[in-house]
Amino acid sequence: MKILFYDTKTYDKDTFDHELPRYPGIEIDYLKTDISPRTAPLARGYDAVCAFVSSDLGKATLDVLHDCGVKLLLMRCAGFNNIDLDTAKEYGMTILRVPGYSPEAVAEHAMALALAVNRHLHKSYIKVRENNFSLMGLMGFNFHKKTAGIIGTGKIGAAMAKICHGFGMKVIAYDVYQNPALDFVTYVTMDELLASSDLISLHCPLMDSTYHLINKDTIAKMKDDVILINTSRGGLIKTDDLILGIRAHKFFGVGLDVYEEETPNVFEDRSDEILEHSTTARLLSFPNVIITSHQGFFTEEALEAIAETTLSNAASYEAGTPNEGNLVK
Ligand SMILES: NC(=O)c1ccc[n+]([C@@H]2O[C@H](COP(=O)([O-])OP(=O)(O)OC[C@H]3O[C@@H](n4cnc5c(N)ncnc54)[C@H](O)[C@@H]3O)[C@@H](O)[C@H]2O)c1
Repeated sequence: MKILFYDTKTYDKDTFDHELPRYPGIEIDYLKTDISPRTAPLARGYDAVCAFVSSDLGKATLDVLHDCGVKLLLMRCAGFNNIDLDTAKEYGMTILRVPGYSPEAVAEHAMALALAVNRHLHKSYIKVRENNFSLMGLMGFNFHKKTAGIIGTGKIGAAMAKICHGFGMKVIAYDVYQNPALDFVTYVTMDELLASSDLISLHCPLMDSTYHLINKDTIAKMKDDVILINTSRGGLIKTDDLILGIRAHKFFGVGLDVYEEETPNVFEDRSDEILEHSTTARLLSFPNVIITSHQGFFTEEALEAIAETTLSNAASYEAGTPNEGNLVK
């Protein structure tokens, strides 16, 4: 099987090349460019393309891939909201993904963001480097004995719930399905969660029903001085309403690994550019907001697991028995 790998970073090539000798039937060519309608024609002659979380797999791209005879989309990520599923189905394309590679990687990053905004680490790091050892503006609060509200208790939400439990927090959660393994978690309604949590962490997927879940109405229901963390998908939060809430001093802190405008930024060095009309720039102007660029998954363990599962997905497809649990239907 020949795979064309789009949007390659050196760490992708390193981890996939490390795993590849275990899959002698698979060849990979790596491209730096991401997939789009203009770059999809390069996939002619390949059996599969390998794409990532912000790749453009809309109808126009899939039309080209279909024309090139590509039948397999290998997503080296969990999310697939960037794929036009109706078109993929129409063309009989198989989509295999990596549903869970290291939930702890993302959950640990969510807690890192929560701790950082709580204890103002982004400010203290800069202050101390400038010989300013004053504590003014750095006061935080104990998470111990406070309430953590987890929205979505799947793999990552469960890992975050366990971390919060380990911190001595009361853990409450909202999910459409309850996770029976989390016997220390109290499931509540969304309104109760919003009203009682000192830390709210989002771990549900982005779907029509969760789009702009956090908006001016839900923000109004939150406790004052809450910490809000989003490591899930940008579209869960209506950014304009978040900005209004921050300006109204609703939040103690906000930590975002994902945000609505992230697509052109994710994994790119844009440090020489002037970002015009950017709501991201507005968010970054607030002293109690920390933004990271979709790095929740980015640990050695997670990258190894992603490479291993993606190659095993490819091999399973070639054997005619695609890994059932990893199929996007
Ligand atoms: N920042 C990163 O690097 C990164 C990496 C991987 C995944 N993610 C994001 O994390 C999300 C969660 O991943 P996961 O592996 O835990 O997924 P999962 O499928 O294991 O869990 C998702 C949970 O959300 C629940 N849910 C669905 N609709 C809901 C709703 N309306 N309200 C509340 N809960 C709802 C589901 O019942 C499920 O329990 C993914 O969808 C992805 O967007 C981010």
